[in-house]
Amino acid sequence: MRKTTLITGGAGYIGSHTAVALINAGHRVLVLDNLCNSCRECIARLELLTHTRVDFINGDIGDSILLDKIFSRYDIDAVVHFASLKSVEESIRKPLDYYANNVAGTLNLCRAMARHKVFNLVFSSSATVYGDPAKTPIPEDIGTGKPVNPYGRTKLMIEELLTDLCYADPRWSVGLLRYFNPIGAHESGMIGEDPSGRPNNLLPCLTQVAIGRIPELTVYGCDYPTVDGTCVRDYIHVVDLAHGHLKALEVLHEKGGINAWNLGTGVGYSVLQIIQSFEDITGISIPYRFAPRRVGDIAKCWADPRKAGRELGWTAQRDLEQMIVDTWRWQSRNPLGYRSPCVIPSLMTVK
Ligand code: NAD
Ligand code: UD1
Repeated sequence: MRKTTLITGGAGYIGSHTAVALINAGHRVLVLDNLCNSCRECIARLELLTHTRVDFINGDIGDSILLDKIFSRYDIDAVVHFASLKSVEESIRKPLDYYANNVAGTLNLCRAMARHKVFNLVFSSSATVYGDPAKTPIPEDIGTGKPVNPYGRTKLMIEELLTDLCYADPRWSVGLLRYFNPIGAHESGMIGEDPSGRPNNLLPCLTQVAIGRIPELTVYGCDYPTVDGTCVRDYIHVVDLAHGHLKALEVLHEKGGINAWNLGTGVGYSVLQIIQSFEDITGISIPYRFAPRRVGDIAKCWADPRKAGRELGWTAQRDLEQMIVDTWRWQSRNPLGYRSPCVIPSLMTVK
């Protein structure tokens, strides 16, 4: 029987796209998610999209008894670990929830993996571990910096925990995937980002303005030392990101120890360039106003992704236009996210 890949947080934004990539590549997947920031409808859509029954368990990575049952029942050989709380703003208000869920949750997961002799782990890290980087593009060997909020610190703590674990026990093989700014959606328009409550990230805010849910976009800061005074980020298509996980899983089966890989495009765009591109591509005008800088924002952040190119054979394939087209298709077909009726594309040529 085929081995199973456990995807924690697989009903979420990046996890669901990764589930599609893994299933299409022939993996058997099991999704474990407590649905604290997602819903069952996502799993139903994964099944429609992949024409496969997706094994799903509604449960928490903090539940050791459940994890023991899962590892005993399924023949799991690797874990892709997305489950995490991810709001920067909430992490400042509720640090204990973030340290408990993200750090203690990961510790609990690793203990269960060790008990069941599963040593391959792909972890969702973030460019936030670089803090305010001394240079751009950012290579992995620049070293980690000082994340400026509790969410970012949970990511750095987990990276350190996993690094210590790999040094202590050579059976472990861990990939730290440092994502830059994931946007976009599956080109079917059936799955995408569905933030609960008021979004904080740029693209969800921008599309909510485009559909009229928010009257105008607030642009935080116009006096940064960048091309036009607004912050520059490395936006990466979520489907490219998903393929990065597939590549990392393949390599980790061969390569032991701890490995950090940047997943970004290597190209930076300013906030105003994103607004302009969105307007050009969709024909929708986006009213915006400038506001003071947002606390914790850095001026410039984009990846040097060459290590992932060399070691994983992975490079991002989709450009900004594709990211915006796919984001907009998802948002316009699903104005209420997963609460919208599902539109199934007639020609399923999508991968
Ligand atoms: P998401 O919130 O859409 O997905 C996370 C999923 O984990 C959700 O479905 C949630 O219900 C689940 N979850 C949370 N805590 C859990 C727990 N204790 N047990 C079981 N399930 C739990 O977020 P996302 O954008 O898909 O992010 C996935 C991962 O990537 C996270 O670890 C996040 O920190 C990291 N990341 C995201 C971004 C980004 O911009 N989206 C950037 C860098 C890193
Ligand atoms: C943020 C988090 C980061 C997290 C990532 C993914 C902060 C400081 N960083 O990254 O830790 O990993 O999200 O969840 O919150 N912007 C606007 N108007 C808006 C929204 C955003 O001008 O309404 C600007 C921001 O100031 C920033 C850029 O758009 O310059 C991108 O913002 P965002 O999408 O939130 O990503 P990051 O801040 O890069």
